[in-house]
Amino acid sequence: MDSALKRKNVLLGISGSIAAYKAAEIVRLLRKRGAAVYPIMTKAATHFVHPITFQALASQKVTLELFDKNKEMRHLSLPRLADLLLIAPASANVIGKMASGIADEILTTIVLATEAPVVIAPAMDHGMYKSPILQRNISKLKAFGYRFIGPEKGDLASGEVGMGRMTEPSEIVQYLEELIQSRDDFRGKTFLVTAGPTRERLDTVRFFSNYSSGKMGYALAEEGRWRGAKIILVSGPSSLTPPGGVEFYRVESAQEMYDTVMSKFPQVDGVLMAAAVSDYRPARRWQNKIKKESREKLVVELVQNPDILKELGEKKANKILVGFCAETKDLEKEARKKLITKGLDLVVANDVTLEGAGFEVDTNIVTLIDGQGKKEALSRRSKREVAQKVWDKVKQLTEVRKISREMA
Ligand code: CTP
Repeated sequence: MDSALKRKNVLLGISGSIAAYKAAEIVRLLRKRGAAVYPIMTKAATHFVHPITFQALASQKVTLELFDKNKEMRHLSLPRLADLLLIAPASANVIGKMASGIADEILTTIVLATEAPVVIAPAMDHGMYKSPILQRNISKLKAFGYRFIGPEKGDLASGEVGMGRMTEPSEIVQYLEELIQSRDDFRGKTFLVTAGPTRERLDTVRFFSNYSSGKMGYALAEEGRWRGAKIILVSGPSSLTPPGGVEFYRVESAQEMYDTVMSKFPQVDGVLMAAAVSDYRPARRWQNKIKKESREKLVVELVQNPDILKELGEKKANKILVGFCAETKDLEKEARKKLITKGLDLVVANDVTLEGAGFEVDTNIVTLIDGQGKKEALSRRSKREVAQKVWDKVKQLTEVRKISREMA
């Protein structure tokens, strides 16, 4: 079978690290799989390996400057032709610049300009790798959807053993192969994602709501689109900018969310219900602002909103349904209960009392439980990385369903 990398244009960014010599092997392996490789070197990288090495291996001119002798603007032409940008080795300096949007030389300029997936293979001394500043930069880039591979624990240039060794070229190339394949995971499929809170109006200026920011749902929408799906994003009020390329609907109340979701449901292959839908709304809506004079006490009666997910579960047929479960106690028990009562294929459960999980924060700590009861507990990671795992699981579930349909 042909490699997914065949005829793909891979930009290979090489920055200043002793591991630059390993990038030569990456060029060789990529070319073996049929990719065209365009090396880009930072000035520091040229102190470790001469550009001639890369030129010979890639059969391609090495880009070293923003402008070459023919005044061709490589930072404009290269990003456009790229199917993928790999930075290997990525030094702490280059990672720091990327995380800050600095574009003061050719490589970081291309990173900012490209829409292709960016994969980063860090290599540095373990002291630098442990630095909280570097760690924060990595987290920031991950939240934007940049992929990281490695580093690994092993012998370092300093003679010490620790974290910071660049992942082996063969593993990096295998990772790229899988990544390119995953871009087609949901090609031709449509998924609906809900996000954010809902607001239940009390009077003209007040409402009941919850702390949901929409971050998890927006990350799911972005990642789903990244993998080739058509995404319909239905969002409650959120300050986030909707990801590019998604069909977007902004709603306010649970009832509005219900109406939009139900109208779109027939055309989708699945629903990921990340919204924190208010379970209740005020039974009565005041027409004007409620005044406190003449009122010692205000008693508001709440009535239940429709359970959107439960109703989808009753109508789902072959569609994939993913529910979210935010709890403060008995997480697993509650999650398993929802799987059954709402007819779900997958539940993403999180304990909102944990630090680094739940509402408003950029990270989450979740457990994925599927319809067969299989459980996968994930350590704390960015919401974008959680989204990657959720879509991996959706992909698996879709495949299992396809196989069982073919066998029936
Ligand atoms: N959900 C929904 N419609 C609602 C309420 C929740 O579709 N009216 C969805 C959420 O988007 C989420 C899942 O259901 O995917 C959460 O389940 P839910 O039963 O609402 O959780 P809790 O409100 O915590 O439930 P309970 O009070 O029953 O424990």
